[in-house]
Amino acid sequence: MSSESSSFNRRSMLKTLTAGAVYSLAASELVQAKSLANTPASLQVPKGVTPEALAKDESFWAKVALFYDKAEGIVNLEHGYWGKMSRPVQTAYLENTEMVNTQLSYYARKEYNQDLVDSANKVAAALGANDGEVVLTRNATESIHNLLRQYNDFKPGETVLFTDIDYPSFKETMQWLAKSRDVEPVEVIIPPQANQQQILDLYIRAFDSNPKLKLMLLTHASNQHGLILPVAKIADAAKQRGIDVVCDCAQSWGLLDFKITDLNVDWAGFNLHKWIGSPVGVGALYMKQGSLTKISPYPGETDPDNTLTYKRVHTATTNFAATLTVPTAIDFHQSIGPANKDARLRYLHSLWATEAKKMPHIEVLGGSDAESASGMGAFRLTGKTSFEEVTQLQKRLENEFGVFTVVRKGLASGCCIRVTPQVFVSAAEIATLTNALRKLA
Ligand SMILES: Cc1ncc(COP(=O)(O)O)c(C=O)c1O
Repeated sequence: MSSESSSFNRRSMLKTLTAGAVYSLAASELVQAKSLANTPASLQVPKGVTPEALAKDESFWAKVALFYDKAEGIVNLEHGYWGKMSRPVQTAYLENTEMVNTQLSYYARKEYNQDLVDSANKVAAALGANDGEVVLTRNATESIHNLLRQYNDFKPGETVLFTDIDYPSFKETMQWLAKSRDVEPVEVIIPPQANQQQILDLYIRAFDSNPKLKLMLLTHASNQHGLILPVAKIADAAKQRGIDVVCDCAQSWGLLDFKITDLNVDWAGFNLHKWIGSPVGVGALYMKQGSLTKISPYPGETDPDNTLTYKRVHTATTNFAATLTVPTAIDFHQSIGPANKDARLRYLHSLWATEAKKMPHIEVLGGSDAESASGMGAFRLTGKTSFEEVTQLQKRLENEFGVFTVVRKGLASGCCIRVTPQVFVSAAEIATLTNALRKLA
């Protein structure tokens, strides 16, 4: 840690260090922690350590945690909703809000458009995409809805496909699409525990038994249990059959370390306010160069040559300061290291899930091999799958054990409790959950 800057806020540190079951730092480290700067550059990641080894280094992650203001009184394991801004990002956001609120239209009319393009290009670079392939939106929902609504290549009687692990709102959009475009909806069921090969086989079987399949929704990381799909392989099999793919990366970017080119998809929607840690209200739409023809411009917009991705979105007046803060969020994300975050979150998941799998009264859901599991996971009491039963369980965890989680619906096998740690969650906090799970017997 840099010892030069003293902008670290003592009150925030105390708040962090007294929160729930927290990290324990040695006194000398606490003194050092006071000197943490409010800039990403002050976070020093040890060199020559693999992400998997660093994932287990509680003292490193304790230092990462000091960049976040953490609430007291509850072990919060529901970070799948949106991500917390680190303090450097929050500071930039407050400054940007102040600037916009001072300059008003003089700034927005003259400079915002270029700043918006710069932020989008920063996202494109971080994703491994080209300038012009990424447009900022307000969230992944706006991105995916635009792709689905503006898809223009159906013939009556063709088929659209989605699965039970897709995001509930997008399943509804697929049903709406089927009705409004005179195409048939097909829902494929993914088992509650699955590995990469089983998932790929299921998709290929679905492709082969639906020869009129034209468009599919494909989720990279499922919102219910963090299952990771073999997107590139499924997309490859789809392409071979002329099936178009809209990929939902709302939950995956930042939870997992990947580049867009790894996924082999032409169209995808992202969030920056989940695992990249931007202010709430920023998503992104990716469209590969040369892939625009089948997605019409936003109603009323024109793009005769089908080359302008930004014509697929019409966000209108937006949270200018949130857009302006995107580069700081990406810098902070990269200063920890996407591979380090991915490995740490998987490690925290493995800490509770490995123990829970040994408990006959608990059913752990999600990936059954390493590639299919992520930092996000889920469980339920064996055989208790109704919304009422799982809601009861969520309440017990919160009220009896001080662990906050969320109930997820939508899986064909029933409801579950989703568990989502963040990079500032300690192994000790995960142990609070594991101990609670034992007592649920
Ligand atoms: C897999 C998945 N897709 C889409 C969304 C929608 O994200 P947003 O509400 O930010 O648009 C979520 C949100 O949790 C999600 O988990």
